[in-house]
Amino acid sequence: MYLSAFVICLLPLAAVAVNVIQSNDDGWAEKNLRVFYDSLVDAGFESFISAPADNESGKSSLDAPPTEVDDGCQFQSCPPGSPPTGNNASMPRFNVDSLRHRSKRSSQLTVEQYVNSYPVTAMKFGIQTLSEDFYGGLPDIAVAGPNVGSNLGIVTQFSGTVGAAVEAVKEGIPAIAFSGSSGEQTAWNAPLENYMSVYADLSTTVTQALVNSGTPYLPSNVFLNVNYPEVNEDCAAPSDYKFVLSRVNIAIPFLTPADVETCGNDGRLPNETDVVGTDGCYASISVGDAGDKTTAGKEAQSVVLEKLGSILSCLPS
Ligand SMILES: *[C@@H]1O[C@H](CO)[C@@H](O)[C@H](O)[C@H]1NC(C)=O
Ligand SMILES: *[C@@H]1O[C@H](CO)[C@@H](O)[C@H](O)[C@H]1NC(C)=O
Ligand SMILES: *[C@@H]1O[C@H](CO)[C@@H](O)[C@H](O)[C@H]1NC(C)=O
Repeated sequence: MYLSAFVICLLPLAAVAVNVIQSNDDGWAEKNLRVFYDSLVDAGFESFISAPADNESGKSSLDAPPTEVDDGCQFQSCPPGSPPTGNNASMPRFNVDSLRHRSKRSSQLTVEQYVNSYPVTAMKFGIQTLSEDFYGGLPDIAVAGPNVGSNLGIVTQFSGTVGAAVEAVKEGIPAIAFSGSSGEQTAWNAPLENYMSVYADLSTTVTQALVNSGTPYLPSNVFLNVNYPEVNEDCAAPSDYKFVLSRVNIAIPFLTPADVETCGNDGRLPNETDVVGTDGCYASISVGDAGDKTTAGKEAQSVVLEKLGSILSCLPS
């Protein structure tokens, strides 16, 4: 009796696809975003992209109504004079036909949508408007990036990728910001590079681990800030990487309240800059406070430590 109730509870998690919304600040046609989309879909997620028409790096939490794309989207990915929001007019429809929840508008949709404004605006438009068309409701989880370039410590305050993740949290959608130090902004149709696949694969691993931990995916008002070190010959494959729980900002001695205890740390997590800078291939996962984009408190850290326990490691002592 108890056993069968337990089994029934587990079934929906395994059988029902999880609905993802993706954004970034490097632009809708930047390749990291597209490679991550492919990786998520390969892993069984449903996803769509709602991202800025152009490079909006460093735009933090700015938000403004989208405007006509006077000069066209980045990398000539949409023509000059394109409407404020749109998609790829020449994309065949089958891109959405795989989505199970379709509305009457879906014949005009492709899974890659641009919004000619800031990252926050693109995330908001995706959650408030596009998600209804794709999923018939809100997305289950929001992911931003992988950003081209790290978003560590104080830099998270200015990051549009972090801004987009925080916006999702403010709209009640659990969110993760991903950033990696390798590469530069690359057009969607340029050749695939190894770092793109490695970052996409690692990001899918984190997303999957969080989803497998069950709902709610994250405590309220919290986002995750994930950073990857450089992909090089020593850190060349996803399996080379280890994830370590970290802090966004520097802890002030005697003033900053204790962090969660783990890895024999006496109640102080390493900062994310230190994690990514440690020799080896260490990726940082910080629990961010969506209010001020600094480190969330010990209680939220404990929840994440438990949820992501299966993928977390310690720094070498
Ligand atoms: C994207 O925008 C940022 C911030 O304005 C700028 O530093 C960077 O050079 C831009 N990237 C490209 C490829 O133009
Ligand atoms: C638009 O769709 C066409 C046809 O599938 C494709 O070749 C092109 O790369 C797409 N462009 C963008 C920016 O996604
Ligand atoms: C990270 O922590 C180390 C001490 O472990 C400190 O030296 C460094 O300044 C901190 N950096 C940042 C950006 O928080």
